[in-house]
Amino acid sequence: MDGRDLIDLEMSFGAALLGHGHPAIVQAVTEALRWGLLTGHDTPHQIELAQRLVALIPSAEMVRFTVTGTETTWHAARIARAFTGRDLVVKFEGHFHGFNDTLGYNFWPPPDHSPASGETRVRPESAGTPEADRALVRVLPWNDLDALRTLLHGEGDRVAAVVMEPVNIDSGTIHPLPGYLAGVRELVDRHGALLVFDEILSGFRTNTGGAQADLGVTPDLTTIGKAVGGGMPLSAICGRRDVMTTVAPAGPVIHSGTFLSHLTAVLAASAFLDVATEPGFYPSLITKADRLVSGLREVFRNADLPVRVQQYGARFSLLFGIIEEPRRYRDVAREDRLLSDAFYRHALDVGVYLNPGWHHGISSAHTDADIDEALEHLQVAADRTAAMRDTRSA
Ligand SMILES: Cc1ncc(COP(=O)(O)O)c(C=O)c1O
Repeated sequence: MDGRDLIDLEMSFGAALLGHGHPAIVQAVTEALRWGLLTGHDTPHQIELAQRLVALIPSAEMVRFTVTGTETTWHAARIARAFTGRDLVVKFEGHFHGFNDTLGYNFWPPPDHSPASGETRVRPESAGTPEADRALVRVLPWNDLDALRTLLHGEGDRVAAVVMEPVNIDSGTIHPLPGYLAGVRELVDRHGALLVFDEILSGFRTNTGGAQADLGVTPDLTTIGKAVGGGMPLSAICGRRDVMTTVAPAGPVIHSGTFLSHLTAVLAASAFLDVATEPGFYPSLITKADRLVSGLREVFRNADLPVRVQQYGARFSLLFGIIEEPRRYRDVAREDRLLSDAFYRHALDVGVYLNPGWHHGISSAHTDADIDEALEHLQVAADRTAAMRDTRSA
């Protein structure tokens, strides 16, 4: 809008995995606009898209389409509550699931608010969250099986769902420890609760089956969104048939809405899947992401800036002032925000757009030349940030 060219390394919070204005997405949306936007019933397109997702995502036996991630995780929790007849939901510090009153807690609490292992201090992320809703959530540190074991030992018969990002991209792309997800799966089963993977961000980053396909642990319910819509607003709840049939018309849970499975988004998602399932799509995307990530590590080394670069497929995080591999949110909560803000500002000045947040990414539209150009600019941004830090400490 201001006439400047920027290289986008943010990619619409992860929604634009094919880049901006991909011809397949433009064609799909145009076609939908011609056909009529919205009907009160499904067409073969919704059904075909659901069938394709069932074939791709290990936990998906049935699919319900939604619009935003925020409503999707809320509905997933409600389905779990109806299926189990229980009321508590367990979530993890640093895991983001949208701003609903069911899961809108402890996304990024200040460092001094982090609970000690096993301790639960629930902190709503927004004013206006009722005390009564807060009483129905438990928050734990992630990658800590003992904390979950202790909680389930005490209150397991009240827990409907354990909800997590299988890779915690929303707090710096933190990976699960070996055996952690399998351990969670076993504990959750033992206590008769449901395991919900929120793959709204991790889905479609390394393959078309999500992190669950990568990591070999299958949840009962999965939420997807962002990339799957090809940049259009489409999310979905996928899951076990017996759980999903808790929803009407088969069961008593209501899930309905005027804009659900909007044709523009459904056709865009089909077009996205056409492109993402082409042989070579992911190998090429990951090769480019690896090129960027190794280049970024070199940039920060050259500038003598202590920045840890974390990666999950096409998404990555820059953790300023963090040296060790993080295992949970509290390991990154003390990130040097002065340094990171300065870097993102300098990056924008030299022509690279990075949202000053927890994660960034590339798309399939980025070329090697784009990546090399971005790295060249980011070296300047890193050098300027280091100079600012040196002035600050002098
Ligand atoms: C893991 C995860 N869940 C849920 C959401 C919320 O999605 P939306 O912004 O579409 O409401 C996000 C958005 O960043 C997310 O990363």
